[in-house]
Formats: sequence, C-alpha cells, structure tokens
Amino acid sequence: MKRKLIFIVVALIFTDQLSAQKFESLAKTPPMGWNSWNKFACDVNEDMIRQTADAMVSSGLKDAGYEYIVIDDCWHGMRDSLGFIHPDAKRFPNGIKALSDYVHSKGLKFGIYSDAGNQTCGGRPGSRGHEYQDAITYAQWGVDYLKYDWCNTDNLNAVGAYTTIRDALFAAKRPVLLSMCEWGTSKPWLWAKDVAHIWRTTGDIYNCFDCIKDYGTWKSFGVLAIIDMQDGLREYAGIGHWNDPDMLEVGNGMKVNEDRAHFSMWCMLTAPLIAGNDLRSMSKETTEILGNKEVIAVNQDALGIQGFKQEMRDSVDIWFKPLKDNDWAVCFLNRSQKSKKIQFDWKTPVVDKFAKRELNADKTVYKIRDLWLHKNIGTTEKLLNIEMQSHDVLMIRLTK
Ligand code: GLA
Repeated sequence: MKRKLIFIVVALIFTDQLSAQKFESLAKTPPMGWNSWNKFACDVNEDMIRQTADAMVSSGLKDAGYEYIVIDDCWHGMRDSLGFIHPDAKRFPNGIKALSDYVHSKGLKFGIYSDAGNQTCGGRPGSRGHEYQDAITYAQWGVDYLKYDWCNTDNLNAVGAYTTIRDALFAAKRPVLLSMCEWGTSKPWLWAKDVAHIWRTTGDIYNCFDCIKDYGTWKSFGVLAIIDMQDGLREYAGIGHWNDPDMLEVGNGMKVNEDRAHFSMWCMLTAPLIAGNDLRSMSKETTEILGNKEVIAVNQDALGIQGFKQEMRDSVDIWFKPLKDNDWAVCFLNRSQKSKKIQFDWKTPVVDKFAKRELNADKTVYKIRDLWLHKNIGTTEKLLNIEMQSHDVLMIRLTK
C-alpha cells in the first residue's frame, strides 16, 4: 500500500514536470506594447500608468496593434512575513490588481517586471526562492506579461533560473508571456525556445543612433551597435520565440529620421515593438512613426521570418525580409553622417537560404511601395535611384 502511494506521488511529480511548458498560444507575432523603463526608469506610479493606458488608446496606437502596458523595475515594496511581495504603497496606493483591472478595461494587457536574483537591478526584492509564490501573486493580480531580469544572480544558472520561473507561471495557470532579460549572456537563442517567448540579445539600448556608452563595468548601445549585434541570430527566431534587441527609444530625443530608421530596422528584425517614450505627450512625428501600419505589417507578418543584411555599399546597409504571399520588405539604411546616393539593380540575385526564398526580379515584376511615403513608386523593371539623408532609411514593400 505504502509502495503504491509513493509510486503515485512520484508519477504525479514526474508527469507534472513533463507537462510544464511555456504558454504556447502567445507571441505568434512579436509582442507590441509599452514599457516604463526607457523614459521613466524608477519613477513609476499608478497615475502615470493609467494615463499611459489612456494615451495608448486615444493616440490610435492600440488600433495599430500595441497591446501590453508593462511596468518595469521599482514598482515593488517589501515582502510580508509570509514572503508575499507587495507594491510600493506610496506609488501604487490602490494596489496592482486595481491597476491591472484598469488596463484590462481599456482592452489592453498588463505586464510587470521581476528578476531571477535576490534583488532587481534597481535594488528591489527579486524573485529568487519565491518563484512559485510570485507566480501565484501575479496570476491573482491579472498579469499577462513578465519581464524577468538577471541582476544579482551570482552562481545562478540561466537555464535553471528561467525554466523555474516558466514552470512556476505555468503552474499558476494564467497565460503569461515570458520576456527573458539576461542580455544575451548565456546565448539564450541556443536554448530558450521552449522556455521564453522573447529573449534579449544584447545589453541595454542607449538613446543615441551611433554611440556606445561605457560605464566602466558595463556598456549600453546605440541603435547601429545593437543592429550589428544581431548578426547570425535570425535562424533562432520564429513564431512564438523572438530575438529581442531591446525596447524602442522612438520619441525619446533622437532626430525624427533616426527614430524612423530605428523603428524600420526593428520591424525588419522582427523584434518586439515595445515603445519606451511618454505616450501622454507624443509629437505628431512620433505618433506617425510608432503608428505606421504599413511598417508594422512588415514586423507582424504571419511568416515570422527575421530579415537579413544582404550587403553594405558605401555605408548603406541593404536588408531584405521575406513576407507572406511572396512579398518582400527591403530597407536601405544610411549609416553615415552624410547623405548618400545609391543605385540598386533589382536583377541582383537575392537568395535567402534559411527561408528557402529567392527574389527573382528577372522573371517576376514587383510593384514597389514606399512604406513611409505611403506611395507606389514604380516597379522592379527599372533601376532604383535613391538619395537618403544621413541616418535615414528607404523602406519598401515589393508585391507581385
Ligand atoms: C536592466 C534591464 C533594463 C531595465 C533595468 C531595470 O538593466 O536590461 O531593461 O529593466 O534593468 O533596472
């Protein structure tokens, strides 16, 4: 009898382990939303988050596909005597559940942040040793998205730590999109496909087009540096599991052309589109960039294939991305400080071995649509002659 009981318990544990998984129905296309960190850092509070949810709707960005409102670091108060985490009562006087209810009432989804270590990067309580307890708390609060950071994780193993939080979320039974934020340190693209929905591939983004900021023990990276660090990663991304080159800096102070180039490239990279600016006070230009549905359609394309760099010519990168219905997105990115003129012959063979696709403009004539001017600009029968200002793009869609 005793033996039988032990067998049943072991069998139960075993089947539970076997069935633990990430929530497979999520992130069929790269997630879209907003996160507090890039603009507000630790200065978060419930009024600002509510107003941001309002602005997401009134600005038209919700209609353009943005869905998640995510509070990053520093929402935390202390753990209670039983170990349950509570929000900072001054900043979130009505608690997280009321805030998440509000976000949901706007037709949006709600996200939160924690860390695999003892403390978050901002020095707040981390989830180490409290993973299952936190997952239950988040489920009770109505959390739909968890960004899970990697500060203060001495001696922790990334595969173990992220698998633990995945299993804890699964056991809590509320579908949560898991966003891994360990900066690419353990090469998550090699192992995290069944653990997380997105994984950061680099250190933090820096609000500058062409700079690297060195803080001594760590660095943060401008737009061009981050783009270059995506080299070789495209084959690891796909439906339900995406490379994450970090959140957007659109609207945070770069020039309009730089914001446009940054946004275009995140769409070519099939990256999560997580706005990081103050949605309550956006300029018309920022709203137009974040809300450009034709460019977003490239990012959200049902095939879910990350784009690739075909060549660099005179400081102009030429990127291609296969799309559904045999369409292609093409992006010419002027990296230099000067304006550039280039000529492109569509008869140049473009072969995507990974996606098993070929752009054969020799046999097929494609129509060319400029996705920023929202205009058809001819066909692939003629040479393309373009002039681009510094740090700008020409982004187009080719359709048969
Ligand atoms: C790390 C992450 C950032 C942000 C901060 C919060 O640096 O990479 O995206 O979440 O922590 O402290």
